[in-house]
Amino acid sequence: MGKKLSVAVVISGSGSNLQALIDAAKAPDFPASIDLVVSNRPGVKGLQRAADAGIKALTIDHKDFANRAAFEEELQRALAKEKIEAVCLAGFMRVLTANFVNQWKDRILNIHPSLLPAFKGLHVQQQALDAGVKFSGCTVHVVTPDLDDGPIIGQAIVPILEGDTAETLAARIQVEEHKLYPESLAVFAAQTGALE
Ligand code: GRF
Repeated sequence: MGKKLSVAVVISGSGSNLQALIDAAKAPDFPASIDLVVSNRPGVKGLQRAADAGIKALTIDHKDFANRAAFEEELQRALAKEKIEAVCLAGFMRVLTANFVNQWKDRILNIHPSLLPAFKGLHVQQQALDAGVKFSGCTVHVVTPDLDDGPIIGQAIVPILEGDTAETLAARIQVEEHKLYPESLAVFAAQTGALE
């Protein structure tokens, strides 16, 4: 196998998807390595998960910066310092500017808890319940300047059950997220590696 794709995972919270990526990347034949974790929120569980796995973890608190661009400059510096090649957003609750996304064109992935292009933005489980659809799920996609848009790498379908609430649906979707994100990153990393 060639060199592994060096990946940073950017989070804002619990980091259960980060954990799934860390666990998957332990396999010797996984084509990416998780080399950096950045959180925009201090003290979140995901930072502890990174530390427990021996991965470099940084807090870049967006509140310490005058604007989005200044926050992203700091993020860019951290990514460059670690020679990161691709970024996985995993529960990162900030919108990235077009400028940053274009700097990382086709190099940022995101996981979103709906079957895109249906139900973008926030409270998507409630959006799915309100729409009365029978199936929802999750999507891993390449990040483009438009929110929750961009080429889809993988999707998993989750049936909506009678009596589902946003919380019960979210929990069942998360089970699928934890399989889908590593699978999708593996596909992406293998493809990206082949292009170089
Ligand atoms: C996930 O449901 C993901 O789809 C969404 O935010 C949540 C993050 O959860 N973008 P976690 O921090 O990975 O546990």
